[in-house]
Parts: sequence; structure tokens; C-alpha cells
Amino acid sequence: MSKRILSVVGARPQFIKAFPVSNALRRSHDDVLVHTGQHYDAMLSDVFFAELDIPEPAYNLGVGSGTHADQTAQMMIELDDVLDAESPDVMIVYGDTNSTLAGALVAAKRSTTLVHIEAGLRSGNRSMPEEHNRIATDHLADVLLAPTSRAVDTLRSESVPGEIHETGDVMYDAILYVRERANEVSAIREQLDLEPDGYVLATVHRAGNTSNKSRLSSIIRGLASVSVPVVLPIHPRTEAALKENGLWQLACDQLTIIDPVGYLDFVSLLEGATLVATDSGGVQREAFYLDTQCITLRDETEWVETIDCGWNTLVGADSDRIAQALAQNEPNPPKPQLYGDGRAAERVAEVIDSV
Ligand code: UD1
Ligand code: UDP
Repeated sequence: MSKRILSVVGARPQFIKAFPVSNALRRSHDDVLVHTGQHYDAMLSDVFFAELDIPEPAYNLGVGSGTHADQTAQMMIELDDVLDAESPDVMIVYGDTNSTLAGALVAAKRSTTLVHIEAGLRSGNRSMPEEHNRIATDHLADVLLAPTSRAVDTLRSESVPGEIHETGDVMYDAILYVRERANEVSAIREQLDLEPDGYVLATVHRAGNTSNKSRLSSIIRGLASVSVPVVLPIHPRTEAALKENGLWQLACDQLTIIDPVGYLDFVSLLEGATLVATDSGGVQREAFYLDTQCITLRDETEWVETIDCGWNTLVGADSDRIAQALAQNEPNPPKPQLYGDGRAAERVAEVIDSV
């Protein structure tokens, strides 16, 4: 039976995750996309709707930036009105942002069936806002869609009340869909004069790195240690933090800092890089999908399988460890199939058909 679904997104990685899922859902259901407005800069938001085959959101709640409480509360108030107007059968939330948590709380309080995509991930670091969002959402969800068997085990060990399904990672579907097109249409490597395998790509945006001057400074110094260009598409939060801490000039002198790029350009940059250094959750596994070795600028990761198989190295924010990891020249290890077969969105749709 066709269902009315409300899919809540708000931050860059959620637009990417929603695109294969929304495509699969629209074959049999009404999928009403709600953008909370958490990300609003054109290069963090509009660009993804223009590039990817997803409809413009039916609603943009325009919530914008604020404290965690402000942002989450404002989203809840606005989402409540959307639920009044739409009376959906199901609400879908993605990942671990404040948009995820706001959607989860509103759905739970209104007894709307709540589906959490990317359930069961844990870093074990209770100081991360994302960890609060994931734990709360998983315990509120009626249906938990986990990317891995490890995530399924985590959910079982926490005795979450909802039903659990393993689907694989919808980001793998997204990458497979755009990989070829990215290489055909993106001119970013030519524009930046980058040779294949002749540069390092970097992204930094986590609160734990940007709101700590010594970590941020150490990361920049570590990245600056290599002789090849280091391309850093900069998140606005990181740009602001570098400026506030007097590190902006150093970063501009040592690195190739560019505005955030669209998904096609990012995939092209990631595929062509020798290595990627990142604190992003999405980029760690996209690197794996695109055969690029990853260095993770955090003390722990939710995506431990990439570490276990040798495609990812945790280096924290220590400049020496970053420099050492960037200098590595090991052959690529074998690649197991870690996160599904690229058909996770179909599995999500099958589960939604049956709830
Ligand atoms: C958020 C998520 C994080 C996710 C990331 C993806 C939370 C708690 N964090 O982090 O899990 O990995 O998105 O990129 O939900 N800003 C702009 N323009 C924008 C958006 C933000 O300038 O379009 C600036 C504002 O100064 C804002 C800051 O970036 O205060 C942080 O934005 P916010 O959405 O709160 O968190 P992110 O760091 O983007
Ligand atoms: N990304 C992008 N342009 C950029 C940086 C990242 O399109 O300049 C994409 C990247 O391919 C990945 C997603 O954004 O799919 C990751 O988002 P981010 O690192 O902001 O969030 P996280 O995954 O850590 O939640």
C-alpha cells in the first residue's frame, strides 16, 4: 500500500543520503522532503539539489544556525506544524545531526512511525553532539536500518525497542550512482592544476577539532608537512575558527584552501587524491569506496571496519602522527565488502513497504 512519508534532512551529508533512498521510495510512495534549513549556504545545500536527482524540498523550515538547544527546539516547533499539515504514515530521519534528533523527538511524541537510517553507529565518545543524537534517535525509532552487522549487534546490546534491519550503507549507493558522471563532468582537478595521485585532499569540520585551538593548529601543521598540494574545501565553521584563532593566514599559506565544493567535484577530488585526511564520517567510507587511503583526524571512529582492513588510520590531531601517516607509501591492502552491495536504498524501500 502506498504510504505518505516525511523525510527530514538538513545538513550536507543528509541530502546525499536521501537521494538514492528518495529515488527508491518514490516508485511506490509519496515522499515529502522537509529541509530543516540547518545548512543554508548555497555550497552546503542548494548545490546538492541541483546536481542530484532529488526533488526540491516541499518545505524549507529555515531554522539556520544556533546553539544546540535553539536549533533543535526551533526545528521541533516547525516540524510539528508540518506533521499537522501532512499527517504522514512514516517519518524518516538520517544519521546523527540536530535535524535527526528534532525529527525523531517530534515523530515519537506524535506516535508517527519513525524510521532511522544509519542506526546503530557509536563512537563511544559521549562528548560528541552526534553521539547524543544517535543514541536518543535509536532509542526512539520504531524501525532501525543499520548499515552493518556490527551496528545491528550494538542496537541489540542496547536493547532498543524498535525492529532492526541490516541494509548496507546508502552512501555507497550514492557514490556508485555518481562516480562515472563525476569523472566526466567535473573540471575541478584541471581548474586547480592537480595531477592524479599528486595531491592530498582534506576536510575538517568536527566540533571537537574546530572548537579546540590546539587541536586545530596541530592539524594544520600536520597537513602542511607534505610537499604535494593539500586541498582543503573549507567548511564555514572551520574558516571562522581559523580566523578567530589567528590561524587563517598560516592555513592559507600552507594549504590550497577552496570553498566547499559540490558532490560531483568532491567525488572527483577524492578519487584522484593520493590520500584523504578527514574528520568526516561520510568521507571515511567514501574514500574506501573510491580506493583512496584515509587518515582520520579523530581519536575514535564509528566506521571501525575501515581501520580493521587497513584502509583507514586514526591519527587524532597530533601533527607528528598526521605527518607520519601522510608520508606513508604502503601498497593498498585487499578490499573486503564492508558496507553492503550498493543496493541499500532498495532494501530501505522494501522495509518501508512492510511497516
Ligand atoms: C553539522 C552536524 C554534524 C555533521 C555536519 C555535516 C550537528 C550537531 N552537527 O555540523 O554532525 O557532520 O553538519 O557537515 O548537527 N554555517 C554556515 N553556513 C551554513 C551552515 C553552517 O556558515 O550553511 C556555520 C555557522 O556558523 C554555524 C556553524 O557553521 O554555527 C556550524 O553549523 P551546524 O549546522 O550547527 O553544525 P556543523 O558543524 O555544520
Ligand atoms: N562533501 C561535498 N563537498 C565538500 C565536502 C564534502 O560534497 O566540500 C560531501 C562528501 O562527499 C560527503 C559529505 O559531503 O558525502 C560529507 O559531509 P560532512 O563531512 O560535512 O559530514 P559528515 O559525513 O561528517 O556528517
